[in-house]
Amino acid sequence: MAIQADVDMAALDSILTSVPAAGTGDLIRILQEIQAAYGYLPRPVLSEMSRRTFIPISRIYGVATFYEQFYFQPRGKHTVRCCRGTACHVRGAQSVSDCLARTLDIEPEQTTDDMLFTFETVACLGTCFLAPVMMIDDDYYGHLTADKIKDILERYS
Ligand code: FES
Repeated sequence: MAIQADVDMAALDSILTSVPAAGTGDLIRILQEIQAAYGYLPRPVLSEMSRRTFIPISRIYGVATFYEQFYFQPRGKHTVRCCRGTACHVRGAQSVSDCLARTLDIEPEQTTDDMLFTFETVACLGTCFLAPVMMIDDDYYGHLTADKIKDILERYS
């Protein structure tokens, strides 16, 4: 509850002034703009959005949870996506993932305390020929071994 009181609604004011809240397309656009402004979808902002637009909160969450692009927790500055798909798995993805978890000191689907990295595992990055592979933001790193992880992470600040 304390978090709710700390969320600044100024960005929401601006978004709701510029985007009409009519159809589902508008709802998605509003959610995208909220996420762009806050870095994620803070629950207090969604509640306030529902109150101001008369869009039921259940509908807002229905749309927001349907699309993978939306997040309900603050994200790190950089997103690490480690593939756990079959091609990567048979080429050592588990040791890469374990090394990432150890180096970042978090588990998959968590964010580092300094908010630098969010660590995710994904089913396939579509670059199986690079297996095992991970992405950091838009950069691909293929043919990974655990001993390369620390050097790669140090490139990001
Ligand atoms: S299985 Fe890893 S990129 Fe496809």
